[in-house]
Amino acid sequence: AFPQQVRIVEVGPRDGLQNEPGPIIPTDIKIELINRLAAAGIRHIEAASFVSPKWVPQMGDAAAVMAGIDRQPGITYSALTPNVKGLEGAMAAGVTEVAVFSAASEAFTQKNINCSIAESLKRFQPLIEQARAADIRVRGYVSTVLGCPYQGDITPAQVAVVSRELIDMGCYEISLGDTIGTGTPLKAKRMLEAVAKEVSLDRLAAHFHDTYGQAVANLYAVMEEGIAVIDSSTAGLGGCPYAKGAAGNVATEDVLYLLQGLEIDTGIDLQAVVDTGHWITRELGRANGSKVAQALGTCGR
Ligand code: HMG
Ligand code: MG
Repeated sequence: AFPQQVRIVEVGPRDGLQNEPGPIIPTDIKIELINRLAAAGIRHIEAASFVSPKWVPQMGDAAAVMAGIDRQPGITYSALTPNVKGLEGAMAAGVTEVAVFSAASEAFTQKNINCSIAESLKRFQPLIEQARAADIRVRGYVSTVLGCPYQGDITPAQVAVVSRELIDMGCYEISLGDTIGTGTPLKAKRMLEAVAKEVSLDRLAAHFHDTYGQAVANLYAVMEEGIAVIDSSTAGLGGCPYAKGAAGNVATEDVLYLLQGLEIDTGIDLQAVVDTGHWITRELGRANGSKVAQALGTCGR
């Protein structure tokens, strides 16, 4: 049965912008994007990334972004942290939720965070302990759950093992990343079935990229199984710097339209997100990746 409510985790300001080629996006634009998304009714926004600026230059102003946003009560503004140094930066910036990230693929983990999966988990141990001691919630990402750009096929069992470990270490939720968007509904369902044997469904989220245009279909499939948390990116912004050719996340507008059709409530104003998507893609000088946004156009905001 489908969930009655779905929580959207908007990752556009992080996953969407981290890979943007060309000049560094001005901090003010990042801040305005986050504020607009909050005003549209999104309750959970991944706002920044405290990673090495040598690795991901677009996220180099994470502290300034966190300091500049107009924080609204009841909204979570989270950030990626790959290690304790990242956590320290996030804590100094007043972040109340962080996310660690590993993968089901050894090869991808090496390219992305320069260590093995086992080493990544070891690195997260003190991070998670320190975060929890400071009342900071920790989310866990597992990337490449439906395929790896370097390794190819990933078995559902590999995804289940890493997900379970992150939960046992203290993550409150695992976001399952189809990093390169090669998944299909049946594959997504089988992967989820394997993971749900190790981690309860109410602690799992779907983080699907739309490279092959399958993300909405894949979301439909996993919602049918009970997934009620969806990561998405306004205007379908993004890609992954360590997954060449990967397109952005599924567009938030497309997910909201799907959910409206399923009569599932989110409390988010679709047109306000559409307007925000048109605004940010104009600022970046790129096409809007959301079909729904293209269809609805803008009402000038
Ligand atoms: P490394 O080079 O192995 O680490 O990188 P290191 O400890 O040797 O540090 C190298 C330099 O970075 C040092 O500076 C450190 O101080 C600095 P130097 O001495 O050379 O001047 N440094 C940092 N600076 C700021 N913040 C930090 C930090 N840590 C070290 N936190 C490291 C290892 C993990 C740092 C690096 O590989 C890294 O930052 N990787 C980030 C990669 C990334 O952000 N990828 C994209 C996000 S993941 C994703 O998009 C997938 C997801 O969306 C889900 C999905 O779609 O599947 C989440
Ligand atoms: Mg991603």
